[in-house]
Amino acid sequence: MKVTKAEFIISAVGPSQFPVDALPEIALAGRSNVGKSSLINRMINRKNLARTSSTPGKTQQLNYYRINDDLYFVDFPGYGYAKVSKTSRKAWGQMIESYLLEREELKLVLQMVDLRHPPSKDDIMMYDWLRHNGLPVCVVGTKADKIPKTRREKHYKVIKQELGILPGGLFIPFSSEEGMGKEELWSVISGYIEN
Ligand code: GTP
Ligand code: MG
Repeated sequence: MKVTKAEFIISAVGPSQFPVDALPEIALAGRSNVGKSSLINRMINRKNLARTSSTPGKTQQLNYYRINDDLYFVDFPGYGYAKVSKTSRKAWGQMIESYLLEREELKLVLQMVDLRHPPSKDDIMMYDWLRHNGLPVCVVGTKADKIPKTRREKHYKVIKQELGILPGGLFIPFSSEEGMGKEELWSVISGYIEN
């Protein structure tokens, strides 16, 4: 996809603020700091349209970015951040759950996991939940550049095994730093936003 226009639209705290133009939406889920905002920036070749943070777990809204007039990226607040209170964790859960289950414009969830580590309990729970609810999901393994090339395959295998990605299930290694995986991910996304 050739990105000619990308703009931040809104930090939505609830459905009344979601866009009404019915463009397809691609959601990004993953723990805090996994690289969601960096992936958006890389996909659209911008240094800092999506805010990358060094204080994880801050955003509790759904951040909407419109790409061309083709789709939205919807950046979720990261899960699994220890310092977040129980109450706000619950609020997070409810907002995300109703978005995922009810939003008709949602076409694909990018479930992001850090390639350097085995998936966390939260990652596994999230992936199971998405599949259980029949949502289309593509696992994106982030920060590939931080693993020596010769060891990458081994890391891919651990992720696939522990998440239980079936043969043929979508999995894309990615590096926001170097651009690895960008074209492959655009091609997967394109397949899900055509109707
Ligand atoms: P929250 O918004 O807090 O949930 O985090 P996030 O998932 O949006 O992560 P973000 O994109 O802000 O990245 C977190 C940190 O990881 C930043 O310091 C990024 O520069 C770094 N990072 C993200 N992706 C990559 C990558 O592919 N390679 C490397 N080397 N660093 C990355
Ligand atoms: Mg972010």
